[in-house]
Amino acid sequence: MLHINEHYLKLQASYLFSDIARRVAAFQEKHPEREIIKMGIGDVTNPLPPACITAFHAAIDEMATTSGFRGYGPEQGYAFLREVIAANDFQARGADVSADEIFISDGAKCDTGNIQELFALDARVAIPDPVYPVYLDTNVMAGRTGAFQDGRYQGLVYLDSTAKNGYVPSLPREPVDLIYLCFPNNPTGSTISKAQLQAWVDYAREHKALILFDAAYEAFIRDNSLPHSIYEIEGARQVAIEFRSFSKSAGFTGTRCAYTVVPKDCMAYDRSGTAHSLHALWNRRHSTKFNGVSYPVQRAAEAVYSEQGKAECKALIDGYLDNARLISQAMAKLGYAHVGGDNAPYIWVQSERDSWEFFDELLEKAGVVCTPGAGFGRCGQGYIRLSAFNSTANVEKAMERLATALAK
Ligand code: MLT
Repeated sequence: MLHINEHYLKLQASYLFSDIARRVAAFQEKHPEREIIKMGIGDVTNPLPPACITAFHAAIDEMATTSGFRGYGPEQGYAFLREVIAANDFQARGADVSADEIFISDGAKCDTGNIQELFALDARVAIPDPVYPVYLDTNVMAGRTGAFQDGRYQGLVYLDSTAKNGYVPSLPREPVDLIYLCFPNNPTGSTISKAQLQAWVDYAREHKALILFDAAYEAFIRDNSLPHSIYEIEGARQVAIEFRSFSKSAGFTGTRCAYTVVPKDCMAYDRSGTAHSLHALWNRRHSTKFNGVSYPVQRAAEAVYSEQGKAECKALIDGYLDNARLISQAMAKLGYAHVGGDNAPYIWVQSERDSWEFFDELLEKAGVVCTPGAGFGRCGQGYIRLSAFNSTANVEKAMERLATALAK
């Protein structure tokens, strides 16, 4: 008899965003006449930047010729893309990252979910609360947790991110081996200063721990004092892996391209205490389980770094940040405490009530979809997340509807 991986049975219902999509579809079926504005999942709505489209088309045309055709590419990604990433995203900011430390992939969701395979099942894992559910669920699937009790999995160290600590978790009181951090943060939209991030890097160095740093939203940073990469922090190369994505920075959610940086001096240890290169382990995993991102998509991603591409991506993000400002202003006017939206596309709103109830109310009264904070963890209860990824016209309309529905 074939047995299942019973750790899957510990998971809560379905994946958060699938659950929301199902509820919205059910509502829409019941009320086909209602026009729904989606400010739930962080999915971009604007077309790809023209520079990317031109490069994408040109690469497809190359694939139509005998001389330009390409079969399997390098699993780690083409050098042309890895080199522009290293130069623009890291070296230009004084961060020491070389092209061969970059692994191109089809998404930061996959990479942040898969990376835990490299670590022992008894690794002590620290996970923020609230959190992007992928970090948590993939550790549950792997068997690194006990049962779900009182809104939390046993065996994990939760890092509370609340109004009290400015939504930046404090260092754990007990020793941990693997630490997930995401800044600018999903879901709260909060940011971390260089000094705060330095404290985490110092902690990791002292405890031979590793930080998994999700920087998928770094392109939204407008405050020049904030770090875009953990490698801007002294000593991070030995203790941090960083995840980046073109999804939100260049509108690639449906095109799929991302990358993970694993520095060559980043180490973890076997039971005898011998250090092993995580770069070598991730390379082994990546080349065994992944066959690379398609050539046209990598050419489209390369175009993000052209002068035209940079200007177009900045304009794209500026537009979403303008939406975020509209949302912040509307929430302030309605008297709801909130954070985020300045250097991130998410606004974290204190709903003063059960977040799923509030989700239902916004859907029913205003036809606006948000993400209930409770879906991101126990500390998210009483909050909702509003995403700025929509057209400005839709955001304006949604805010007008909320003003009517929520007038106190
Ligand atoms: C979110 O809404 O949190 C993100 O869009 C999910 C993702 O990037 O996978």
